[in-house]
Amino acid sequence: MTRKSLEFPQGIIDCVEATRSRGTVLVASSRKGTNAMTIGWISIGSIWGRPCCTVLVRPSRHTYKFIEKGDSFTVNVLPRDMNEAVSLLGTRSGRDMDKFSEAGITPSDSMKVKCPHIAEAELVIECAIAMKQPIDSSMIRRDYVHTAYAAGDYHTVYYGEIVAIHAQ
Ligand SMILES: Cc1cc2nc3c(=O)[nH]c(=O)nc-3n(C[C@H](O)[C@H](O)[C@H](O)COP(=O)(O)O)c2cc1C
Repeated sequence: MTRKSLEFPQGIIDCVEATRSRGTVLVASSRKGTNAMTIGWISIGSIWGRPCCTVLVRPSRHTYKFIEKGDSFTVNVLPRDMNEAVSLLGTRSGRDMDKFSEAGITPSDSMKVKCPHIAEAELVIECAIAMKQPIDSSMIRRDYVHTAYAAGDYHTVYYGEIVAIHAQ
């Protein structure tokens, strides 16, 4: 299916809103393979004079191994009638199953990055990793530690330069 390219910041409000309200899907890949998981936290704006998208991944996620070794990621907004897939991708691990076939999603070659996107996504943001930074427990507000890190497992924050945005 031909996809329509968008210019930053087109599509960004929809992506932030979907991530906040129902979750979007992060795809990460390395030479060892590809995995997808639901994300609820995202930040999109401008850093280093470039459009930038940041996502947060806990080391306990199977996806972490792929994003750590890869050089890119994609953020995928699935249509509302695929909310069940979003739920599966956010509650089951790629350690135990092929999440693409279980969720009924199809990996597809991206326009600008090595990491695939999801063919069924109504909106995709392709990102080339510019920087990554594990959260330092001594540098974060105490109340956030209590709400988000009672069990440790501090996220690593991945800053991606947005190199393509496309929609169905
Ligand atoms: C709505 C929702 C949002 C989530 N957001 C994040 C997130 O931003 N970062 C994260 O590390 N995990 C997040 N998770 C949890 C992962 O999606 C979940 O642990 C998933 O099963 C990990 O899959 P994996 O082991 O295949 O990587 C979220 C889950 C849901 C349901």
